[in-house]
Amino acid sequence: MVFFESAPAKITLSVDVLGKRDDGYHDVEMVMTTVDLADRVALSSLNGDRIDVSADNQYVPNDERNLAFKAALALKNKYHLTRGVRIDIEKNIPVSAGLGGGSSDAAAVLRGLNKLWKLNLSLEELAEIGAGIGSDVPFCVYGSTALAKGRGEIIEEIPPPPVKWAILAKPNIGVSTRVVFNQLEIENLPHPNTTKILDAIAEQDFYKLCNHVGNVLETVTTSLFPNVQRIKEKMTQAGANGVLMSGSGPTIVGLVEHQYKAIRIYNGLRGFCDEVYVVRVIGHSNTC
Ligand code: C5P
Repeated sequence: MVFFESAPAKITLSVDVLGKRDDGYHDVEMVMTTVDLADRVALSSLNGDRIDVSADNQYVPNDERNLAFKAALALKNKYHLTRGVRIDIEKNIPVSAGLGGGSSDAAAVLRGLNKLWKLNLSLEELAEIGAGIGSDVPFCVYGSTALAKGRGEIIEEIPPPPVKWAILAKPNIGVSTRVVFNQLEIENLPHPNTTKILDAIAEQDFYKLCNHVGNVLETVTTSLFPNVQRIKEKMTQAGANGVLMSGSGPTIVGLVEHQYKAIRIYNGLRGFCDEVYVVRVIGHSNTC
């Protein structure tokens, strides 16, 4: 029997970094939500005690380095399970893009194996296991809209944001989260006002949200890759109401109210940027 689990991309609505920690990570405050651009993760039982993973994308490793493999292994180790699983990942989310694709695949494996192996674990328990795999995995386990704190693994779910459509524009470069955090200069960061973002979501005020979106990591990624700043400017000129980089980048997100506007901006950006997507914001948990 093959079991399918959807692994939606995440976008950030704000990313703030509060300081560097003794463990090498940074304390963050991020507001994140999900969109309908998704990988498709197929899980099937294997005879024997092994994990096979394969993805239809040359940039994704088909071995123990894959976060989906790590997720299955973490679950097997924690509950002393001697079961085998084959994981096939159809990649639709661009890789190293700031859209949480690898983390979402890992989260989908945790949710899917929870069902396939009838483990009956709660999302909280899966998120806790996910935190050992990567800082963004707990958010992806919930797959809703949340304020993430700590190194990103402390999740407070909040209502879906007042935005239906987004345009994602990804230049043809991959960005390492580790490199971006390493180069961040903590002093004089242009901090977004996270409280205002949360207020805008609570009040379901689209324009207020758009006025306050922001990402401190842009300071690093745009200086490493000036093209990211140009795409941001293009997205703004094209008429997106709120514009920011997602995660550590390089994908630029444009927020709009209506589909026709999203399509107009998509058409305007296509000649300028390799990969452009119009996506619907989901923002609520669709995982059970
Ligand atoms: O947790 P994850 O493995 O996804 O993080 C990748 C790298 O990004 C970490 O090794 C660390 O260098 C950096 N990072 C950080 N602070 C965070 C999250 C990630 O410094 N909150």
